Amino acid sequence: MEILHVVGARPNFMKAAPVVAALHGCDHIQQTLVHTGQHYDFNMSEVFFQELGLPAPDVNLEVGSGSHAQQTSQIISRFETVVLDGKPDLVVVYGDVNSTVASALVCAKLMVPVAHVEAGLRSFDRTMPEEVNRLLTDQLSDLLFTPSEDGNDNLKREGVDPGKVHLVGNVMIDTLIRMLPKAAERLPKNVPEDYVLVTLHRPSNVDDIDWLTSLVEVLQDISCELPVLFPVHPRTRQRMAELEIWSSHKYTGFQLLKPAPYLEFLALQSRARVVITDSGGIQEETTFLGVPCLTVRDNTERPITVDVGTNVLVGRNTQQIRKEVASVLAGRAKRGSIPPLWDGHAAERIAAVIAG
Ligand code: UD1
Repeated sequence: MEILHVVGARPNFMKAAPVVAALHGCDHIQQTLVHTGQHYDFNMSEVFFQELGLPAPDVNLEVGSGSHAQQTSQIISRFETVVLDGKPDLVVVYGDVNSTVASALVCAKLMVPVAHVEAGLRSFDRTMPEEVNRLLTDQLSDLLFTPSEDGNDNLKREGVDPGKVHLVGNVMIDTLIRMLPKAAERLPKNVPEDYVLVTLHRPSNVDDIDWLTSLVEVLQDISCELPVLFPVHPRTRQRMAELEIWSSHKYTGFQLLKPAPYLEFLALQSRARVVITDSGGIQEETTFLGVPCLTVRDNTERPITVDVGTNVLVGRNTQQIRKEVASVLAGRAKRGSIPPLWDGHAAERIAAVIAG
């Protein structure tokens, strides 16, 4: 059986690593890894392959950046050739990025079966490009692996045949559990004892200049109480440079850093007093780690992190951010527990279904 995995952007790599490893032991399975090249900077891509022990991609489509239409259409046309040449029996796609939907569409047209890892998540907000990617990818998939029960409920409501859907748990947590002992050694030496960790990259937060400006003001105020460590995504860095926040800020506790490699970021998360983010995966990782998380969004496709975990949605509301940070600093952080099946074995359950 020939299985082809497609990855493209930073959050795909830690999801694919355990699935590739779990299928590695099956005699009758050959695997090919395709990187679309959606993310291409060393710190956004190659360092993750090194740290996660992912094999180097067999093919790199090198699509790079562009508008959604440009990026998606480049992946579609370049990936079609790979599928026609390789004739895979199954293509496995991950998460909700442009690489995910583009490769699923190619397969659906060529009638090659698709498995979607992290199926069924919904924010119900179609202004998010990822929500469109999720909806379409799930409609195009033949095997749908969900991380939590809400994913199954969403797919049922959308009319997806329940026979295709498998509740397997969270592959991102498989990687976290495997890597946590190593991560402890990677905490940078000069990290303060106590700090707030921040990541922001969603267009809804960083492409709106007025909102980004007020968000940075709040973070700078917080940094007067507790150091704020902010590894900055390339998209956000561009916007901050345009606003001259990058070069001219005067708050010593407000530390703008390069995007962090996986192990370093995991170490930083596990020691943070509170994480402020708009990422999807970080909502899950903080829930597993029991670290308070404030999500700067009005909604989440990962409601289990709010219902069960440590996540609080603060919306686009600076008052709410200040209030929730004050609660954490006063020792009233939200406590949570770990969702069912986030146990380090999700990829094994996926491999069992695929290998039959
Ligand atoms: C993409 C995903 C998003 C995911 C995020 C994780 C989509 C629609 N979005 O958003 O779901 O949460 O990745 O990071 O697929 N850039 C670089 N170097 C790189 C990659 C990007 O400098 O290696 C810059 C480019 O200027 C690019 C911009 O970042 O235009 C945005 O990159 P892009 O891949 O379009 O989307 P992300 O914001 O990274």
